[in-house]
Amino acid sequence: MGRKTKRIKKKSVAPKKVKAVKKAKKEEKIEFPRSVQKAMEHFGGLLVKQLKRVQIIKKAEDWIDYSKLKPIIIGVIGGDGIGPYITSEAQRVLEQLLKDEIKKGKVEFRVIEGCTIERRAQVMKPVPDDVLEEIKKCHVLLKGPTTTPKKGDPWPNIESANVAIRKELDLFANVRPVRVPSLGIDWIFFRENTEDVYALGPFGIEVTPDLAIDFKMITRPGSERIIRLAFEHAKKNNKTRVTAVTKANVVKTTDGLFLKTFYEIAKEYPGINADDWFIDIMTAKLVDTKRRTEFQVLVMPNLYGDILTDEAAEFQGGVGTAGSANIGKRYAMFEAIHGSAPRMVQEGRAQYADPSSVIRAGAMLLNHIGYIELGRKLEMALDICGQFEKKLIMTGRATGATGREFCDYILETIADPNLENRWNEYQKAASQAG
Ligand code: IPM
Ligand code: MG
Repeated sequence: MGRKTKRIKKKSVAPKKVKAVKKAKKEEKIEFPRSVQKAMEHFGGLLVKQLKRVQIIKKAEDWIDYSKLKPIIIGVIGGDGIGPYITSEAQRVLEQLLKDEIKKGKVEFRVIEGCTIERRAQVMKPVPDDVLEEIKKCHVLLKGPTTTPKKGDPWPNIESANVAIRKELDLFANVRPVRVPSLGIDWIFFRENTEDVYALGPFGIEVTPDLAIDFKMITRPGSERIIRLAFEHAKKNNKTRVTAVTKANVVKTTDGLFLKTFYEIAKEYPGINADDWFIDIMTAKLVDTKRRTEFQVLVMPNLYGDILTDEAAEFQGGVGTAGSANIGKRYAMFEAIHGSAPRMVQEGRAQYADPSSVIRAGAMLLNHIGYIELGRKLEMALDICGQFEKKLIMTGRATGATGREFCDYILETIADPNLENRWNEYQKAASQAG
């Protein structure tokens, strides 16, 4: 009897469905080893979290309006190694520039202690909870370098504090300008800051001792918001070209989505030329003196941006001279892009550390919260002191100036009523020299 009913059932099922059922049955039989099962569960958990994140990004909160805040709270995170030395100097410069605003109660500085590698290792977190709580009470942050341990270091292998803060505060845009007038270079990089291999960096899987897997993740809304920011910047600053950098010929799914989104958004900006390059040839083109001056605004996923901006900064005098802005809709963080140089502290040379990078970050901070004129003054003073006039030289040791002396030099330069002319003269000479 059983046979008969079976036959009847089979007949009533459409051929396509039969195939599907058969396939499902076959799949049921596959038995994954425990290691793979564990990895699959882990992967599933990551997917669920990322889908939730996509929903949050899609809600697209509004940009914070600094002109309506009183006070604007600027948190200062010293970090590790030379960080507290150079950051306190940068704070001194900003406090001087914002003197009147501080008096009026429009701006307030708050030093946030405890974001050191020692504390982070002690609590085994990239950023201790109490530090994060303090950070969230501020509106913008000025941050010195924090040690990022890697496998094999004496420190436990905790996640980078930078990366954790970027993700926690949703600082999705890493904006790095590079200008070298004598070489005709005027670039601005918009590096996506919360996705790509970085997002799941600490969540890779060692399936077995012989198989390790990391994840690269890119979302459409995450790509849209950084790409749109790059085009908006181009539009506001009369730039005529925006260039995307990917490896979409090989990394087809994630980079492919980024690139597709790029050309979709480009259609909204008909006056701007949109083109794209692959990361390998792009790194080559940055050293091609004929072609490189044609690039203006560049936008790319996280890791390519990390690599390319270090290369680009090198033309300007190295990563130590560049500042980095991490921008989100609610928070923003401005940081030095070099390391914490613990050896300088061990050797008693921390006072000779160059504060230029974190001061440059400070200029970007001023600009971001609406003090555009002050930001420009600081930029000009930094160019004069660090690139043009160079009355003081920083060598990182007693043969050069201290960070404090260098900051005094910057403050004197800012105070010069002839600052703008002085800068223009130098700028003209540098362009002619190039
Ligand atoms: C940077 C740095 C960081 C990064 C490190 C310190 C984690 O290289 O800001 O570019 O990779 O983003
Ligand atoms: Mg980097």
